[in-house]
Amino acid sequence: MIRRDRLKWDGRYAAEGQHWQKSPPRKLLLAYLDRLPITGLALDAAAGVGVNGLVLARRGLHVVALDISEVGLRLAQQRALAEDLTLETAVYDLAHPWFPPHCFDVVLNFRFLERSTFPMYRRALKPGGWLIFETFIRTPETAADVDFYLLPGELHAAFADWDVVYSEENTAVGGRSRQLKPVAGLVARKPKDGD
Ligand SMILES: C[S@@+](CC[C@H](N)C(=O)[O-])C[C@H]1O[C@@H](n2cnc3c(N)ncnc32)[C@H](O)[C@@H]1O
Repeated sequence: MIRRDRLKWDGRYAAEGQHWQKSPPRKLLLAYLDRLPITGLALDAAAGVGVNGLVLARRGLHVVALDISEVGLRLAQQRALAEDLTLETAVYDLAHPWFPPHCFDVVLNFRFLERSTFPMYRRALKPGGWLIFETFIRTPETAADVDFYLLPGELHAAFADWDVVYSEENTAVGGRSRQLKPVAGLVARKPKDGD
């Protein structure tokens, strides 16, 4: 599976990487950017070409961008170099995540779902740290793809015991079709006394 996904995404970024790099950062990130810290360590999970992680790097955070696509991460690195920013990148399979406890100040997870990351994000964020998450919800057309689409209410439920700053299910332009698709968005802070 991972090999097939890697080839798929490498191929996409090789063919359309410039297009992806010109995409604006996710609106949910921009909406909360002013409230995020200006120092510390951030994770951009499934970073692609790094558009969102680079927003945090410009803000002053030290950003680790992880993805299975080396092609995508190379494009992210090139952009970082061109702007004289530091961006750590690593080819990493988030289907088998492991992060040290209490290491990130911010975690971004956009347009990607791997449920095994949920307990890892819970553990790896520092108390008071920010999780910003947005991805697609299952529709009748995508019902067979249980692994890649959230159930309604699922994202909120996974972090309902955190300080939820924003939680909504609405629509956003998605994928290559550029059609409006249902998404769930969450901005939540790990409680100060969270473990
Ligand atoms: C729709 S793109 C989202 C990219 C970026 N987060 C954004 O919002 O534009 C999904 C990304 O997930 C990555 N991906 C897919 N499976 C992965 C896995 N198992 N581990 C890490 N990254 C993965 C792909 O390579 C691709 O870059």
